Amino acid sequence: MNIDIRTKFLNFFKSKGHQIYESMPLVPNDPSLLFTNAGMVQFKDIFTGKIPAPIVKKATSSQLCIRAGGKHNDLENVGYTARHHTLFEMLGNFSFGDYFKKEAIAYAWEFVTKELGFPKNSLYVSIHEKDDEAFEIWCNYIEPDRIKRMGDKDNFWQMGDTGPCGPCSEIFVDQGEEFFHSKEDYFGGEGDRFLEIWNLVFMQYERNADGSLSPLPKPSIDTGMGLERVQALLEGKRNNFDSSIFMPLIEEVSKITQKPYTYDSGASFRVIADHARAVAFLLAQGVNFDKEGRGYVLRRILRRAIRHGYLLGMNEPFLYKIVQKVCEQMGAHYPYLIEKKITLMEQCRAEEERFFQTLESGMEMFKKELLSLKKGVPFSGQTAFKLYDTYGFPLDLTQDMLRDQGIAIDMEAFQTCMQEQKVRAKASWKGSGDEIKSGDFLEILNTFGENTFNGYEYNAFTSKVIALLDSSYQKVESLSEEGFIVFDTTPLYPESGGAIGDSGELYQGERKIAEVIDTKKYFGLNISLIHPFETIKVGDILKILVNPNRIETIKHHSATHLLHSVLRKILGTHIAQAGSLVEPTRLRFDFSHPKALSQKEIQTIEEEVNAIILKNIPATITHLPIQEAKEKGAMALFGEKYGDIVRVVNFADESCELCGGIHVENTGLIGSFYITKESGVSSGVRRIEAVCGRAAYEYGKNALETLFQTKELLKNQDIASGISKLKSQIKELKDKLSKTTSSSDLKVNQTLKDITIIIQKIDTNNIKEIIDNAKNKYEKIAILLICEDNQNLYLACGVKNAPIQANGWIKEVAKIVEGGGGGRSDFATAGGKNPSKIPQALEFAQNFVQKKIEENF
Ligand code: ALA
Repeated sequence: MNIDIRTKFLNFFKSKGHQIYESMPLVPNDPSLLFTNAGMVQFKDIFTGKIPAPIVKKATSSQLCIRAGGKHNDLENVGYTARHHTLFEMLGNFSFGDYFKKEAIAYAWEFVTKELGFPKNSLYVSIHEKDDEAFEIWCNYIEPDRIKRMGDKDNFWQMGDTGPCGPCSEIFVDQGEEFFHSKEDYFGGEGDRFLEIWNLVFMQYERNADGSLSPLPKPSIDTGMGLERVQALLEGKRNNFDSSIFMPLIEEVSKITQKPYTYDSGASFRVIADHARAVAFLLAQGVNFDKEGRGYVLRRILRRAIRHGYLLGMNEPFLYKIVQKVCEQMGAHYPYLIEKKITLMEQCRAEEERFFQTLESGMEMFKKELLSLKKGVPFSGQTAFKLYDTYGFPLDLTQDMLRDQGIAIDMEAFQTCMQEQKVRAKASWKGSGDEIKSGDFLEILNTFGENTFNGYEYNAFTSKVIALLDSSYQKVESLSEEGFIVFDTTPLYPESGGAIGDSGELYQGERKIAEVIDTKKYFGLNISLIHPFETIKVGDILKILVNPNRIETIKHHSATHLLHSVLRKILGTHIAQAGSLVEPTRLRFDFSHPKALSQKEIQTIEEEVNAIILKNIPATITHLPIQEAKEKGAMALFGEKYGDIVRVVNFADESCELCGGIHVENTGLIGSFYITKESGVSSGVRRIEAVCGRAAYEYGKNALETLFQTKELLKNQDIASGISKLKSQIKELKDKLSKTTSSSDLKVNQTLKDITIIIQKIDTNNIKEIIDNAKNKYEKIAILLICEDNQNLYLACGVKNAPIQANGWIKEVAKIVEGGGGGRSDFATAGGKNPSKIPQALEFAQNFVQKKIEENF
C-alpha cells in the first residue's frame, strides 16, 4: 500500500495557513543537543524569543530525527520493540504565539479522523493531570472516560535538559482487544494495545540550566507524530517493521544472509534494517565515523548492526548493501541519498571492514569471559573495557550482547579503566559549543534588537557603544579590562562559516583606546571581545577600524568557494563540505570523498582554481528566497541554518553558494592559489590546505628561496642533475659501506686448544682493519682472510698467542691461488691470481693451522 502520509500531512496544514519547512539537518547548530531529536528543534530559538517569529507564525514540517543519545535515547530498545527507531520522521505543526490549545486539538482531531480515517471509537487521549483546559476542549470531541490525566513523566515534554517545554496531550489508537491480551493492555498501561501516535505540546516554558522554568514570551504549539507508526497502522500492521517502510530492508537482509525472517526470532533483522537508515542519513549529512562525539554514535550504530549481522552468520561487510537499498527507497524524497549513494556505500563498507578485522577475536574473548562468569556476578568491567579499547566494541554493544542473559556490566570497574587511560570516548560534543549564559545577552537583545553589521561596505566606521559586558557576561556601564562590546552598527565580521571573526582597533578621536581581539555572533548580537587601554562607557562614540589583514581572510574565503565548486567539478557531486577554516594566511577545507587524491587530481584542481582567478570574475551578491536559490543550484551546507531569504554569492557560472561572508569584488584579487597539503581526516573525509593572496606570494617566495639556497649548496649546478649526482654518490658510498665487514660479522670456524680459528672469504678489501679488530677481540687467534676484488685476490693473516707463523702460513696458502707474499710472524699479506682455487685454498689453510696447533701441544 502506498500512502503518502507525509505529503498529506504537509498539505493539510498548508491549507490551514501553515508554511512548509524542509527537514533541518540531523546535526543541529546547537551545542546542547547531540542530534535533532524533534521537529521543534529548528524552531527552538523562535519559541524562546531569541529570534523573532517569522511573518507567517504557523509552520509545518516532516523532520528527520535521531534518538540515539542524549535525553531522548532509544538505541538500546531498537529491534526488541515494535516501535523504537534510531532514525525516524516526525510530522509536526507549530504555532509561534499564534494559535494555542483549542486550535491545535481541533486540527489534530480533524486530521486523524478525516484525513487518516481512524474511527472515532478507536481514539483515546492523555493530558497533563493539571490541565483542565485541555480536558474541556477534548470533551468536545470524545467521551470524558477516554481522556486520561497523567503526571509529568508522561505528559510534560521537553527538548533536552534545557530548552522549551510544556504540558502535553497525546493521542492514542486502540489496535484492538483481539490482538492484545496482556494484563497491561488497558488504556494507560504498559501494554502495546493503545499506541500513541501524536504528541501535542503546549509550549509554555523554557527550562533553564539550573532547572527552573521561565515562561516563554508567548504560549506556542509544538506537535509531533511518528510517520513510521502511522504508516504501519494504516497498513494494518501491528509492528512498524512489518510496514512497507522497513519490510523491503528486512527482505534484503534475509536475501543477503540467506536466512528467513520471522518476527519472533527476528530482532537482528530489525536492528540491521533500522540502523542502515541511520547510517545512510548520517553519512549523507556529513557525519563521519569517529572516536568521539557524533561520529562515535554513528560508529556505535554501525557496529551494533554488524554484530547482529554476525549473529546471522555474516563474516564480511554487508550493511553497505542495505544502505544502498535505503538510498534507493528514500531517494525520491531525499535526492541527496541518490546523489551520494556510491560514496555512502564505500564509506560504510570501509568502516565495516575495519570492525570485521577485530570482531571475531573480540567475540571469542567475550564468550570466554561469559563462560567463566559465576551466577549473579556482573560481567567484568575490565573485559568490557578491553573489548572497547582493543577490539572496538562500544560499551552499549557489549551491553546489547548481554541483554538476553540479563547480565549487567561492572560499570565502576569499566569507568575506572576508562579514567586510567584518560580515554574520552563519548560526550565530547558537550562543551564543544559556546556555553554562554544567555541572561544579559538576551536582555540586550530585547532592549535593542539585533545590531547592524555593515562590514560588507566598510572597514572603518564610527558608532555608538550600546552595551558592555564584563568577562563573565554581566552587563556593566563602563569597562576598563577585558570584556565584550556591542555597537549599534559595526563593520567587524563575526566568526561564521569557517571564517574567523574580525580583530581591529577602537579610537576615541585620534587616540587608540582598545584592541579588538575577536568578534562573534551570540543570540543574534554581533559582539566583540576587546582589551581596553582606557575606560570605555556605554554611550561612547568610537571609531572602529577593522584589522587591514581582513582582506587576506576575504581572499581565502572566496578561494574556498572556488575550491569547493572545482572539487565538485573534478571529483564529482558527492563532494560535501565537512568543515572549513578561513584565516588570513591559509585555508583548510574538509570534504567527503572516499579516497586520497592523486597527484594528478591535486594538480588539476589547483590549475582550475587558478584559471578562474585569472578570469577576474566579479562577485555578485543577491538575496533570494531559499527555494529559488536552491533551484539556481546554490550550494547549501548541512548544518547551516538559513532563513527564508538567503544571501547568494556568485562568481558567474563558476561558483554559487549560500553564504553570509565577505568576499573579494572579483576573483583576480585572490592573486594565486597553491594547494600545500592533501591528507585524510577520518574515514571518508579528505582535507585540502591551501594558500592564496599574500600568503601565496610568501609561499612562492619561500619555495624559490629554498631553491636558490639549494642551488648554491650544489655550487650552482642545475638542481636536478646536481641532486642526481649526489644521489649516485650516496649510493656508491652505501654500497661500499655495506661491503665493510666488521669483525663481528666474522664466523669462527673452530676453537682448538683455546685458540680461535677464523678462515674465510670476505667481500671487502679493508682486510687489515678487520684482522686488527679480531686480534683485539680474541685472546688467542689465528685468522686468514681472502678477498676477491675485480679478479684480483688479496690475502692477509694474523696470529696472536698461537703456535703458527703468519708469514709461513700465508706463503703456502698463496701458492694455491697462484700468488705469493710474506710479512711478519704476527701479520702477513699476499696476492693471488686464480679465484677458482679459493675453496681449495681455504681448506688447505684450515688443515695447515690445525696441524700446526696439534703438533705443538
Ligand atoms: N516535540 C514533541 C515530541 O517530540 C512533539 O514529542
